[in-house]
Amino acid sequence: MSPKITSIQPISHPPLEGKTVLLGVTGSIAAYKAADVASKLVQAGAMVDVIMTTSATEFVGAATFEALTHRPVTTSLWQARSDLNMDHVALALQADCILIAPATANTIAKLALGIADDPLTATVLATEAPVIVAPAMDADMFASPSTQRNVNALVADGAIIAGPADGRLASGLLGKGRLVETNILEGLVRQAIGKHGDYSDRRVIVSAGGTRQPIDPVRFISNRSTGKMGHRIAEAARDRGADVLLVTASELPRPSGVEVVKAITVEEMRDAIVPSSSEADLLIMAAAISDFTPSHVSDQKIKKQGKPGTSLNLVEVEDFMPLAQGRKLIKVAFAAETNDVEENAKAKTAPKGAAFVVANDISEPGSGFGTDTNRVTFVDSEGNTQSHPLMTKLDVGHAILDRALPLLAKN
Ligand SMILES: Cc1cc2nc3c(=O)[nH]c(=O)nc-3n(C[C@H](O)[C@H](O)[C@H](O)COP(=O)(O)O)c2cc1C
Repeated sequence: MSPKITSIQPISHPPLEGKTVLLGVTGSIAAYKAADVASKLVQAGAMVDVIMTTSATEFVGAATFEALTHRPVTTSLWQARSDLNMDHVALALQADCILIAPATANTIAKLALGIADDPLTATVLATEAPVIVAPAMDADMFASPSTQRNVNALVADGAIIAGPADGRLASGLLGKGRLVETNILEGLVRQAIGKHGDYSDRRVIVSAGGTRQPIDPVRFISNRSTGKMGHRIAEAARDRGADVLLVTASELPRPSGVEVVKAITVEEMRDAIVPSSSEADLLIMAAAISDFTPSHVSDQKIKKQGKPGTSLNLVEVEDFMPLAQGRKLIKVAFAAETNDVEENAKAKTAPKGAAFVVANDISEPGSGFGTDTNRVTFVDSEGNTQSHPLMTKLDVGHAILDRALPLLAKN
């Protein structure tokens, strides 16, 4: 039978399309940052309902959130009665996820005790949706025994606590009390909403970035991979409910809701991936693993000799992908090529034990290293190919997961 060649249109997976996120904003100096959170959630396709505490309105106006979300903002329990569709129980039932960002010490204390004297706390009491609480306050306020007790009570009640982060606080002091970054909050919302997606209960390992092989204490050889492709795949898997391990050599921000192991060299990557593979369902090797490494690593900085013709001796690195094995493991390899893309990709499937290879021609515009997009072709061991149009790397991640899903179901 001759190999099948198909060209497919990707199935889009807009993460928050059709979902309702209830954003609670409380009276912290970080309340202005909630406007960015609201904006990013709307951009990701969510319908965002905002509830502000009275103190929050001292810091930022309801009009800001109304303009960003195109939705009415609730600021009082009694105002809510004027619109029967917007009372606290309706909001609680409508929400796919509640995010309180920033959350003051005061609101955290009220939530811990089940006090319901404002629209936000009343809504949280009435919801069955996942609740994410992002504290933001002075470091001493956060460290105080009562706040710690209240935070622990919320964790015991099933809330997800995001942060706070370390850094410069509004007081000018350094400490743990900053609201975590918007991208982290958005990631947690996506994870909470995707928890029961088609990858729930699946363990997915993704490698990312270009490994660095040391030459001496100051130099290394590496490649042009930035890690964007692997990080986006990890996010796509997280958004579909997977339990994700991202093994990355990249300097990119860590995706939230994903277990991240930093691995810079090939050896570190092998040690992080091979033992974990036995329990995994899917391994996607998007990292650009060095093919060559210096035959000798100097423990001192190599000095200039003042003569032409200095050489660096390289040896080939053993591919560890065949060593990654598990009872139910499906493996997906990547092939970044500059020529004979499909033939080279096909040749890689058998030795790596890969169900299919994601091949990309890195010489094509918009494709390959450092870009936000990629044009890929899936090639299996029989030479069947499935070519995709230029897509965002997140959509490439979803396409890989779409292709792998029926293979997993057979295990
Ligand atoms: C200028 C200013 C900044 C404040 N910043 C914070 C803060 O970052 N975190 C916090 O927990 N409380 C902060 N507070 C105190 C809260 O606003 C106060 O506890 C209020 O009762 C919180 O009400 P709420 O939880 O209903 O929003 C601040 C107060 C003021 C006046």
